[in-house]
Amino acid sequence: MRIICVIGLAMIGWLSLSAALWAQEAEPLRPRVPVQDRAWARQLHPPFGSTKHAPPEILEEGKRLYEGKGTCVSCHGEQGKGDGPLGRRLIPSPRDFTNCLFHRHRTDGELFWILQNGSPGTGMVPMIPVTITEEEAWKIIAYERTFCPTWRP
Ligand code: HEC
Repeated sequence: MRIICVIGLAMIGWLSLSAALWAQEAEPLRPRVPVQDRAWARQLHPPFGSTKHAPPEILEEGKRLYEGKGTCVSCHGEQGKGDGPLGRRLIPSPRDFTNCLFHRHRTDGELFWILQNGSPGTGMVPMIPVTITEEEAWKIIAYERTFCPTWRP
């Protein structure tokens, strides 16, 4: 009996260790928008101008949507680290929004493109229009940026 317990514990330990090692983001800085759509995506802007200057009520609304209707939290996590309950099981891992370098490599429009088209071959599926509207997407993007503490001047 005892030996079975020991083997069981060893297996659980090994499985969680390998899950932790496998659960990684796939090259977060590599562009996800295909080259033929990139110029178009990059010139898209939120209706409130830029995520750098989104007013507080937009950020509040974005947080509510991120954690609620948008379901982003289940994969990207409450702190935006890509470690939500569902996200922990995905390969590749959801994006870690606390990585400021990632934010600097994406325009607001490229993030919007992802919400329209998803990132093919990953757990990131298109969210507009079934889960959220375009207007809601922009608010969520503004909130998502705040996980990088230096994004807003
Ligand atoms: C079922 C899990 C899941 C949900 C729900 C989800 N995502 Fe993701 N998301 C992912 C994964 C996995 C990736 C990584 C894709 C990749 O590496 O290409 C990702 C990547 C992203 C990226 C980065 C794309 C890039 O340019 O690199 C953004 C932005 C994003 N998600 C926003 C959101 C928002 C906003 C929501 C909610 C409206 C959301 N996601 C909901 C799993 C999810």
